[in-house]
Amino acid sequence: MKIIKPLALKMSIFAGHLQLMQLIESIHGLKEKLAFYKKNGKIGFVPTMGALHKGHLSLVNRCAEENQCSVVSIYVNPTQFNDKNDLNRYPRNLELDLGLLANCNCDFVFAPGDDEMYPVPDMRKFNFGLLETVMEGKFRPGHFNGVAQIVSKLFDAVQPDRAYFGLKDFQQLAVIKKMAIDYNYPVEIVPCDIVREADGLAMSSRNALLEPEKRNAAPFIYNSLLFASELSKTKSPGEIKQEINMLYQKNTELELEYFEIVDNNSLLPVEHFGNKNLCTACIAVFAGKIRLIDNIQFNS
Ligand code: PAF
Repeated sequence: MKIIKPLALKMSIFAGHLQLMQLIESIHGLKEKLAFYKKNGKIGFVPTMGALHKGHLSLVNRCAEENQCSVVSIYVNPTQFNDKNDLNRYPRNLELDLGLLANCNCDFVFAPGDDEMYPVPDMRKFNFGLLETVMEGKFRPGHFNGVAQIVSKLFDAVQPDRAYFGLKDFQQLAVIKKMAIDYNYPVEIVPCDIVREADGLAMSSRNALLEPEKRNAAPFIYNSLLFASELSKTKSPGEIKQEINMLYQKNTELELEYFEIVDNNSLLPVEHFGNKNLCTACIAVFAGKIRLIDNIQFNS
């Protein structure tokens, strides 16, 4: 365990305990530290893969506000990457992340290595039924199994009362909610709004990897979702899909992987609009080698 002394030193007092933000690398060390808080208050948890941006920090701030103890994990989980190049190029900068977290009232940063999280290969197979057959599940085989492997291990280590996830990863949120129910994790899964750049691009650690011309083109993704939402006032899901596909055919910088209008609970494609408040448009786009996802909730 290391005590961090970043630029702005985080210090708080809880139940007579003076607290500095601490970096912990072992599950054992983390459990030891959290035992006190488990008895005396609520533990909030934000799992991340690092390369933190304002979207993550909004989760951490909310977590710190709503709980007596806030834990953030930073771990680039290899089992959820179906593309090894994507794993290798995933941005990593622990020092920078620690500085950012110290300014958001984070109490513990859990940053384990691979040996700690996977001392032996994880052979578990999760079954999320139809939830994992569509969209990300279809285009990134094994991705959600890897997410469930690591999130379940993290939940076991942290034993949080609340866990915070961004709505940008809309399908991930649905999968994690199901995992928490199926495996009886006594944790409240808290969905948090998407945080966007001034030009509308959803914040993502992958944005930092965009070539300048792709970065300039990327706000088109959110604009296409806003357009889809506008179209939903007069058109059917099928017609909207067609229009969005045509839009991307004309765009030379971005390549559409999928655009789907899905039911918020089942995540299955919607064929006819019933209650539009229960429908979300989800999109995945390649900007060069970088794959970006986004979504928008429709309103009636
Ligand atoms: O959303 C992410 O950053 C990751 O999928 C998560 C939940 C931290 C698991 O590795």
